[in-house]
Formats: sequence, structure tokens, C-alpha cells
Amino acid sequence: MKLNSLNLGNISIKIPIIQGGMGIGVSKSSLASAVSNKGGLGIISAVQIGYEEDNFEKDNDNANLTGLIKEIKKAKALTKNPIGINMLSAANNYKEMVLAAVKEKVDVIISGAGLPLSLPGLVKGSNTKIIPIVSSGKAASTITKSWKRKYDYLPDALIVEGPLAGGHLGFSEETLSKSPLPSLEELVTEVLDAIKPFQEKYNVKIPVIAAGGIFDGKDIAKFLKLGASGVQMGSRFVATDECDAHINFKKAYIDSLKEKIKVIKSPLGMPGRAIKNNFIEKIEQEKEKITKCYRCLKGCNPKTAPYCISKALINSVKGDVDNGLLFAGSNTYRIDTIVSVSDLMDNLLEETLEYL
Ligand SMILES: Cc1cc2nc3c(=O)[nH]c(=O)nc-3n(C[C@H](O)[C@H](O)[C@H](O)COP(=O)(O)O)c2cc1C
Repeated sequence: MKLNSLNLGNISIKIPIIQGGMGIGVSKSSLASAVSNKGGLGIISAVQIGYEEDNFEKDNDNANLTGLIKEIKKAKALTKNPIGINMLSAANNYKEMVLAAVKEKVDVIISGAGLPLSLPGLVKGSNTKIIPIVSSGKAASTITKSWKRKYDYLPDALIVEGPLAGGHLGFSEETLSKSPLPSLEELVTEVLDAIKPFQEKYNVKIPVIAAGGIFDGKDIAKFLKLGASGVQMGSRFVATDECDAHINFKKAYIDSLKEKIKVIKSPLGMPGRAIKNNFIEKIEQEKEKITKCYRCLKGCNPKTAPYCISKALINSVKGDVDNGLLFAGSNTYRIDTIVSVSDLMDNLLEETLEYL
């Protein structure tokens, strides 16, 4: 038996596993190309990707453009298979970064943290496929309707991210404090229902991809059976040899305990899931003094923000994990070893086939 490939318009992904974009700097060309080489879809996170450029502090926007172009070129040199980027729609430099990625002929752009309503206009005339991340049937329907009406374009796929994911979450604090949390199974079904009228009216298939807390092949098989065309996984790809983060970041994943993986408030006011470390304990006690603002995200006010999210994420990706923010999915505590992307993907594939 073989898994069905994931078809994004005229682009075919042999193994229907997308490696979720992980910023800042956690998924760059090394991780993304390794995943794509194995037949999945590797994703470079574009947010603040220029953090290693010399002009990052002085000329943030240009440093990020340089960093993005470099990483796309590197990834393309490392794999012949499709490769994508992830860009938060809440980023201030969203438009410029997306246009630069399209110019570099990136195959796929994935966008969440708000609805990327203007995205089809930015990729017009290219072969770049576009995938919004949603957290409800209502959001799936809103974006599909809006893209069709304004741009005569339907999403090439939709990623449904549930509340167990790592990083920023598309749910209110109130929803996340409730028990039980909305399940990913319910959300995937809701989104499949929401897009049904569009698929029927326009006679197309819009693949739905499940994300958030997916850990092994048993989980993957469950969502494929439910009607998803693929999955997006983030945390499991962190503990790989090829992941672009510092070894201390990967070790923090391996050492993490279930009770330390918490929903925290990001400076944007949005909830996010992370490992509760010294850094989080410190900023929960006392607001950090922000001496430099990178103007990275819309809606972040350095005067009132408890800490600078760019600085906190850059610290951790560079290995200063005690003074950094460690975004992590709810199942991170189950990861106990660092493996190669090849072994991880082989393992996931084998388990998936076993449970299908
Ligand atoms: C360290 C880390 C950083 C992340 N950064 C981003 C990001 O920049 N943009 C985004 O859309 N999602 C981001 N995510 C979410 C992942 O892409 C992915 O969808 C999610 O982690 C899936 O859940 P899982 O980790 O349980 O597999 C991040 C997740 C992690 C763990």
C-alpha cells in the first residue's frame, strides 16, 4: 500500500506531510530541504529570518529580505523537490517578503496568524501555491469566499490548526482555558463541511491538512481516514539533526516535561504554547525593559509588551535557552531523542501505513 500524494494544483507532494514553518530560524533551508528530499513538503519560516545578517539591527527590513532570498536559494540548491515558506500575516513586512519569495519562485506560501486576505493578489501570475492556516470552519469559509470574490482564486489547500499546536494559537484564552479543548477531529470535520459547497460549485478539490499535536503515524492515519489530505507537523521536526536551531533548543525539547508545556500570552496578546522555562517565569514576575523594537508584528506595542518576542526567539534559536522563548507543541514532552529527518519520516510513513 502507498499513501496518496498531496496535490496542490499542479504541484504534487509525494508524502502528505508538511513540516510546519517554525520561527525564528528553527526551520530554514537545512530542515526544509531534508524534509522535501524525503518527499514531504519542507517549509522555511520567513519571520525575522535575517537575524544573522550584519545589518539586522540597523536595517531590519533589508536584512530579512537578504536572509529570506539566501535561504530559499540554499534550499533550492539542496533539493529538486517543492519547497515552501511560512509568513505570518501579522508581520509588518508581509507584502515585501511574500513578493521576494514569489520572485525566487518558491513553490508554496503558507500564512496564518490572521487571515491572509490579500495573498492571491501578491502571487498573481506566478506558479506559487497559497495555503491559509485556519482554526475554524467559519474562518475557512470566510477566506475561501473572500479570495474567490476578490481574486477569483480558491485556496490550493487549507491547514486546520487545532489548539494543541506549538507557537501562536488561533484560539482565545477563554477557549483554551476550557476543558475539554475543541478537538482537532471536530475542527477538521467542520472545515471539510465548510468547503464542501465551494468544491461542489466549482468542481475542485481543496485539500484539508490537519495540524497541532500530531505525533505519530497512528495520528496521521486517523486524520487521513477522517478525510484530511495530509498533515502538518512542527515539534517532531525540531528534534532532528537537520533542524536549524541550536543543539540547546533541541535538548530543551528532549528534557521537557508534560507539566511544563504551557499556554502563555505572547506580546501580541495572542496565546501561544511554549515550554515554561526560566525566561517565562522571569517575565511573568516582571516586564522586561525593551530597548530596541524591530517593528516585527502588527499590534505589538513595545511600551506595553511584557517582552520583545523577536529577541526572546532569537536568544533561544541561538542556544541561550534560559533567556529565550521556546515555542513547543503539546506533545513535545514525548520526544526523547534526536534523529535524522530521513529516519523520522521513514518511521512516520511505516506507522501510518500500519494504521490505515
Ligand atoms: C518552535 C515553533 C515555532 C513556530 N513558528 C511558527 C511560525 O513562525 N509560523 C507559523 O505559522 N507557525 C509556527 N509554528 C507552528 C508550526 O508550524 C506547526 O503548525 C505546529 O507546531 C503544529 O503542531 P505540532 O508542533 O504539535 O506538530 C511554530 C511551532 C513551533 C513549535
